[in-house]
Formats: sequence, C-alpha cells, structure tokens
Amino acid sequence: MRAVAVEPVLAQVEREFEHSVDRLVELLRIPSVGTDPAFDADTRRAATWLVERLRAIGFEASLRPTEGQPMVVAHDRSAPAGAPHLLYYGHYDVQPADPLELWQSPPFEPARVEGPHGPRLVARGAVDDKGQLMTWVEALAAWKAVHGALPVRVSVLIEGEEESSSKSLEPFLLANRDELKADVCVISDTGMLGVDQPAITTMLRGIAYFEIELSGPAHDLHSGMFGGAVVNPIHVLCRMLADLHDSQGRIRLPGFYDAVVELPAEQKAQWAAIPFDERAFLAAAGLDRSTGEAGRSILERLWARPTCDVNGIWGGYTGEGSKTVIPARASAKLSFRLVPDQEPAAVAAQLRTFLEARTPEGCRLRITEMGAGTPIRVPTDSPFLAAARRALARVFGKEPALIGCGGSIPVTASIRRHLGMDSLLLGFGLDDDRVHSPNEKFELVCYKRGILAHAAFLAEAASIGGRAPAAR
Ligand code: BES
Ligand code: MN
Ligand code: MN
Repeated sequence: MRAVAVEPVLAQVEREFEHSVDRLVELLRIPSVGTDPAFDADTRRAATWLVERLRAIGFEASLRPTEGQPMVVAHDRSAPAGAPHLLYYGHYDVQPADPLELWQSPPFEPARVEGPHGPRLVARGAVDDKGQLMTWVEALAAWKAVHGALPVRVSVLIEGEEESSSKSLEPFLLANRDELKADVCVISDTGMLGVDQPAITTMLRGIAYFEIELSGPAHDLHSGMFGGAVVNPIHVLCRMLADLHDSQGRIRLPGFYDAVVELPAEQKAQWAAIPFDERAFLAAAGLDRSTGEAGRSILERLWARPTCDVNGIWGGYTGEGSKTVIPARASAKLSFRLVPDQEPAAVAAQLRTFLEARTPEGCRLRITEMGAGTPIRVPTDSPFLAAARRALARVFGKEPALIGCGGSIPVTASIRRHLGMDSLLLGFGLDDDRVHSPNEKFELVCYKRGILAHAAFLAEAASIGGRAPAAR
C-alpha cells in the first residue's frame, strides 16, 4: 500500500472550483457538433483545446488524425513504477443543438442558472460529455498541482465521433493497442440516482440503428388520378412499423428474444431496493405514467429489457396547406436497444427478414445500417470497482448504488473486445439533465462532487497495486 495524501488534493479541488467552472465554460463555448461537417473546424478546435489543457497539466498529449474527427491521446508517466494503469475515455463531440428556438439561452453560450440544487450550467454538452469528462481532467490537474505527480499511471483517449457511431474508434484501437492498453478504462458518461445518491453503472444497453426506405411509384402521383389503384409507400411503411410490436408491447421479430438473458434474481432484488423516484423520473419528461412490458418494474424495463423505437418518419407532403399526392417514397429511422447477450448483427438480419416479408410486389425496400453497439455487463468484483465505491462513499457520505443504464456507450464493448479491458462507469449526470435535448444542463454540485470523487478514486486506485507483483 502506497502512502498518498488525498486530503490536500480534495482541498485543492475546493479552492480551485470556480476556475474549474471557468474552464468548462470555455470548452462549452466551442460548438463541436461532430456529426455535422459545417462544424468540423469547431470540432477540431475542441480537440485542440483538450490537448492544450492536458499539456498544461503535465501530460504528453497529441491530436491524432483519423478518417473522421481527430482523437485526443495523452499519457502521464509521473506515477511510481508498478502502479496500476488507468485509461480515461471521454468524448468531446456533442449532439446537434436543434431545435434552437426551444433553448432559453443560446446552446453554445453557457448560462449559469439557479435551480433547486444551486447553480447549474445550461449548454449543449454540459453533461454529455464535456462536463463529465472535465470531472476527471480537473481531478488529474488537482493531483498534479498538489503532488507534482499522479499516484497511478494514466492514459487518456477522447474521441469526437461518439454521438455519430464512433466510426474511427475501432480502427484506432486496433492500430494503437499497445499504446492504449491499461488495467481498466474509466468513463464518466452516465448518471446517478440523485445529487446525494451516487451510482456506479454495471450494465449498459446496446443499440442497433437503421434507416429504412420504401419506394413504389417512379414519382409522386396525383391521388385522384391514381388513388385506389396503386400502392402507397406510406401506408406500407406504417403497417410494417405497427407490426413491430404486439398488443403487449413485445417485439415481434422472430428470434428477437432468444438471446435475451433474464436478469439474475439477485440483481432483480438489488434493483428493487434502489430508491428510484418513478414519479419524478416521469415528471421530468412531462408524463404521469409509464408504458411497456407488463409484469416488469420500470427499472427492469429501462435497463434490462430490449426496445424498438421509431426515431423519425417522413414522406409525402408535409408543408403548409394540402397537396393531393401519392408519394413515391416513405422513410423511417428505427433503433433497437439491446441487452445481454443480443448481438446487433443478429437483430439486423431478423429485421431484414421481417420487413422483406412485408414488402408487397411493386415496392422496393432499402435498409441502411446506421450504427451498432453491443450491450455489456461490467464485473462487480473488480478491485477498481471496489476502489470507486470507497471513493464515492467518502465524497457523498453514502454508499453508491449499482445501477444499469438504458443508454449506450458502444466504446465499452469495443475496448473489451479489442483491448481486453473492462470499463468502470462513474457518472455524475441526473435524469432531468435533458441529455440530447434543448436546455441540456449540468448541476455544479454534480460537477464538484464528480471532481472530488475522481480525485479520491485516484488515491484508492493507487492502493490496489499494479502489475509489479515482485515489488509487493
Ligand atoms: N452519454 C450517452 C449515453 C447515455 C445516455 C448515458 C443517457 C446515460 C444516460 C452517450 O453519449 C450517447 O448518447 N450514446 C448514444 C449512442 C449512439 C449514438 C450509438 C445513445 O445511447 O443513443
Ligand atoms: Mn455521452
Ligand atoms: Mn450522447
């Protein structure tokens, strides 16, 4: 066990906090909408900002080109020999800000607003993922400022394509395996149960995303001249989409549930004991009731059951007034959330068979795969998870809950597959943060506790010992 004084680091975080907020505000001002080429220069600027910040802290940091947005890679070698090696992962890209008219302040002009938990920052990327990645960046900075060194070896990987399917990530992991391989990957891109109730995520849903297009007539037709005698692609599409669920909310793709693993009784019991405020969760969405599979708790439906959702649908005339046409085409965006042990490729094959069987003569079906992520479980018996538990308990004065996450972080599965590493998901978001929505926010109390938790975690991780067994 290595002696590392953590108290002065925690005091440094408190002292420095307003500057930590200023730095986050600076990063939030950069509109790094990674998916939109119009923002490419800004997206790159966010990456450069992080490289410079990591260098200022004392990291060897570089901007690494890919086919898409650049990667930020950094290493620190100040830790004692044999210390554990952590790889921190985050993403500097953000979702598009639209619809702009629904923002109370401009999305890239961070606003400090008072809320029930004190001040919060409202901006695109406030919690997903700039505010969260800055929790560990600031914790690393505090350690360096106080001790001139880190108690563990640290590498950093921050990508700019997470919100658009991480196309460059797998090739980059494969090409840089030796450089990126560490003992565990630490990610802050998930949530807690409340400002006072910390959590560690141990299960993440996967995703399989598709765009489908049905075409029929060669061009739009007069619905009086042709209506009643020719196929309408919108009708066919609507019937297909309606067919995806049965009256009980179950997904009707043959074989879809074959790979779904029932939640172990132990985990079911543990989740049943989680202090989850269902009414508040629904109220944050402007709702007063939930839907979904009968006989399952809401947490089970959110974290451990697969879904199928239509994310968008278009075709025909949608402008002002009326226009009597039979459209030539109809389209939809469709995504499935997956749970262990479902595989995105299997779901893609099931969907294709299902939709082809429902495509009538005279219609053509096109399915485009838009991105995929395998669901994962994180081992709950790892020493790093135990270290994180101690760190969170210290900072929040409360034992963290072990929770699931309905969202997807596909990098976790890629890192498992290509680098053989598990992830540790320490998130500081809240359910009402409006992730991907207008008026996204991050509570400053969550930001501060996140920084403190990472600072404490570094000390706890150092006490685990690394890969130099001869030394202990
Ligand atoms: N940080 C989110 C994942 C998340 C969402 C965690 C909600 C906790 C609560 C991540 O940036 C994200 O949005 N992932 C996408 C993945 C997709 C683009 C492949 C998702 O879940 O939709
Ligand atoms: Mn994210
Ligand atoms: Mn996101």
